[in-house]
Amino acid sequence: MSSKKPRVMSGMRTTNRLHIGNYFGALKNWIELQKDYECFFGAMNWHALTDAYKEPEVFKKYNRDIITDWIAFGIDPEKSVIFIQSEIPELMELNMLFTMITPLPWLDRVTTWKDSIDDLKKKDVCNLGRYAYPVLQAADISIFRGEIVPVGPDQVPHLELAREIVRRLNHLYKLKIPEPRALLTTNKSKEAEQKDPTKTGAGNELVILGTDGRKMSKSYNNFVPLLDEPENIEKICMKMQTDPARVTRTDPGNPDICPEFSFHKLFSKLEDRKEIDNNCRKALFGCGDCKKWLARNINAFMAGPLEKRKEFLNNPRQLDEIIENGCTRAREEGVKTLDEIYSGMGWK
Ligand code: TRP
Repeated sequence: MSSKKPRVMSGMRTTNRLHIGNYFGALKNWIELQKDYECFFGAMNWHALTDAYKEPEVFKKYNRDIITDWIAFGIDPEKSVIFIQSEIPELMELNMLFTMITPLPWLDRVTTWKDSIDDLKKKDVCNLGRYAYPVLQAADISIFRGEIVPVGPDQVPHLELAREIVRRLNHLYKLKIPEPRALLTTNKSKEAEQKDPTKTGAGNELVILGTDGRKMSKSYNNFVPLLDEPENIEKICMKMQTDPARVTRTDPGNPDICPEFSFHKLFSKLEDRKEIDNNCRKALFGCGDCKKWLARNINAFMAGPLEKRKEFLNNPRQLDEIIENGCTRAREEGVKTLDEIYSGMGWK
């Protein structure tokens, strides 16, 4: 691993199994970044617990599962450091220091807290951990001296706060920890890649919709898992909503407003989509045919990674080793960073 490459750091909360939104919104980009950057990717289980503390099993339940999917799709443990957040005590130590140097008004300003406070109260997750969530996120990044942080647009306020905290740290103790910057994930669909920007979202950004046309979310139960058996994928596809104007097989439809068609934009090639578009508008085939076509394309996309996932599940020791090695490597970096900080503070 060349130390000259700029350093990328990112993570996912381990609240559930991954769905295709996590792939198009993050993982796909992570896989590409491995070429040009030294990458640290974390399964963030403390972050998962901020609003799931009533289901403590969440802390452990999905860590391995999520990491398995990362690797199945192409995160390469030889190139990138893969770790579980709670296994890195140095990270928690830096978090503690960060809580001291972060003035409360900085946290009050974070929009992800401010805007969701009523909702958080309702869900009984209006707690100190949730409030300090972005401080922990700043510690995740800085313990590895991360420079570039690939995230979705919703995370920009957290990255702004992280920069401010690091700036203050550097100023207080005369340090040179890099100020991290967000690298916005552009969720380009196949359509956008083929120079045909999607109409959803701003610019080339694709909003990943769920099977019912609303935003894809675990809580709406409208998601497509990132990896699943072909029969299950077909079942999910068959239940997808389509253009409501197509009541019978002979009614023409409009792919532009069809939730099911939005998945063809992600999984089907331009030639397929042209034919599907034509078949739909002229009522040359039924929605069932369209859905089966989609299921075939999604299953083709998942086939390779699904095989890999099964190999891992059959050989848990291999995954244990990858995680152990990743955490060891992550801790080495953590110790270095803390040494540097504590020297600056005159403690070493
Ligand atoms: N808060 C991020 C999200 O919800 C997840 C996350 C935790 C993260 N720690 C991080 C992302 C550090 C980037 C860097 O998507």
